[in-house]
Amino acid sequence: MLGLPQVYSELAICQVPLIVNLINMDKELNTAKRNVFDKLIHDERIFKNRESLSTSYVPSEFPHRFDEINEVANILKTAFYGSRPSNILVYGQTGTGKTAIAKFICKQLKEKARKENVKIHTAYINCKQTNTPYGVLTNIGKTYSAEWEKQIPSAGWRIDKVYSSLKEKADENGGIAIVILDEIDTLVSKNGDEILYHLTGLNSDLDNSKISIIGISNDAKFTSWLDPRVKSRLGEESLTFSPYNAPQIEDILIQRARTAFKENTVDPIVMTYCASKAAQEHGDARKAIDLLRIAAELAEREEREIVTLEHVNNAQNVMEKDQVKSIVITLPIQHKATLASIILNQGSKDNSQQTTGEVYGTYAKLCNSYNLDELSQRRIGHIISELDMQGLINAKIVNLGRHGRTKYIDLAVDREQLLGIIQHDHFLSDLIESMTKLQIFTKSMQSRLI
Ligand SMILES: Nc1ncnc2c1ncn2[C@@H]1O[C@H](COP(=O)(O)OP(=O)(O)OP(=O)(O)O)[C@@H](O)[C@H]1O
Ligand SMILES: [Mg+2]
Repeated sequence: MLGLPQVYSELAICQVPLIVNLINMDKELNTAKRNVFDKLIHDERIFKNRESLSTSYVPSEFPHRFDEINEVANILKTAFYGSRPSNILVYGQTGTGKTAIAKFICKQLKEKARKENVKIHTAYINCKQTNTPYGVLTNIGKTYSAEWEKQIPSAGWRIDKVYSSLKEKADENGGIAIVILDEIDTLVSKNGDEILYHLTGLNSDLDNSKISIIGISNDAKFTSWLDPRVKSRLGEESLTFSPYNAPQIEDILIQRARTAFKENTVDPIVMTYCASKAAQEHGDARKAIDLLRIAAELAEREEREIVTLEHVNNAQNVMEKDQVKSIVITLPIQHKATLASIILNQGSKDNSQQTTGEVYGTYAKLCNSYNLDELSQRRIGHIISELDMQGLINAKIVNLGRHGRTKYIDLAVDREQLLGIIQHDHFLSDLIESMTKLQIFTKSMQSRLI
């Protein structure tokens, strides 16, 4: 205001609040016009098609599975000549492409059947989701009619009525039904093999139609639970999808990246690194795709132009944290109490290694305060071994010479990280919080007594 006549400067000072108010009002008006997502939803820098990295996406090409696809197609081709294809059992470890390829073949079958005007019905059933005989039969029934009122109701009928209705529908419609039972082992472990006995025997009761089954499992031993007749009917043909090696996973990633990302947005070393990580873990292509997707999401969130190794490393931390979280949250209650005892001991001991006896000591106190059934030390020993197998703790047996042998136990996951994860579990967070308070209280009482 220097140099201005007194009257102007006073006027100006009076007007400052007014101007500030006006600016604020303008800001508010602008905010009201703007949407909170405006700044967040901008043109994506890295992704071209996110969907192609999702778990449900079915690609149109499958590098390194050409032979397997051909083998299945060769078995199924007889359906185009009106003969029933053999039933097939497909095995393979997790992430080897079984589900994606089954869905792809289903799609191709449908397309070709439509083109050739051949009656082929297809049903894809995930037995983890549809895990009752009733559910499986109604889903097969649906392949014959898209009309709601002609379908078998989703509940309420007796199972034998559902069977006969399915037979009727199959014969009424004619043709061949290819039924894919993915994760077939869960259906058997939950209900026994009766449903498979009936399904594989259905053909002998059908006059005008046929049914073929493709069973998929990542448990190669599941057929040992089956009745020998069911086993031989179901496994007329079988094939195994072997795990991918690192260069094969890299090819899969490169092919997937072409549809998922804009050009030159992923450092090529990223693909090699993700592939080698996944190859170390049983050749799981899903792991590699997830790692690449999360790394790209992190880079996109940081508004970077390119995905680098640093993003992959961060993505790995995110994935590991998620994995630990889902293991911890789904632990049975006694396992949680044992884990809580180890966490508590580790927090209160200078030496991070504790013995089974020390874990048991804290566990017993914890059961007492929480009215939990107290298991024997032997049982807690078993639970400790299970937690070790799940990768939450390290338990190594040490020989103490004359004093025999004991287990030294410590956390395999960073304690702070674990405490962060535990926040999401009511039981564990309550337990740790109140036991920690109790420990602090006992310590202060002890020091006062000394
Ligand atoms: N050869 C391949 N080419 C392209 N993508 C592939 C290939 N193999 C696997 N994938 C992809 O890897 C992911 C995992 O595959 P899929 O879900 O089929 O595994 P799976 O064998 O069914 O595993 P699980 O036993 O856990 O069910 C999917 O996104 C799939 O599209
Ligand atoms: Mg699968």
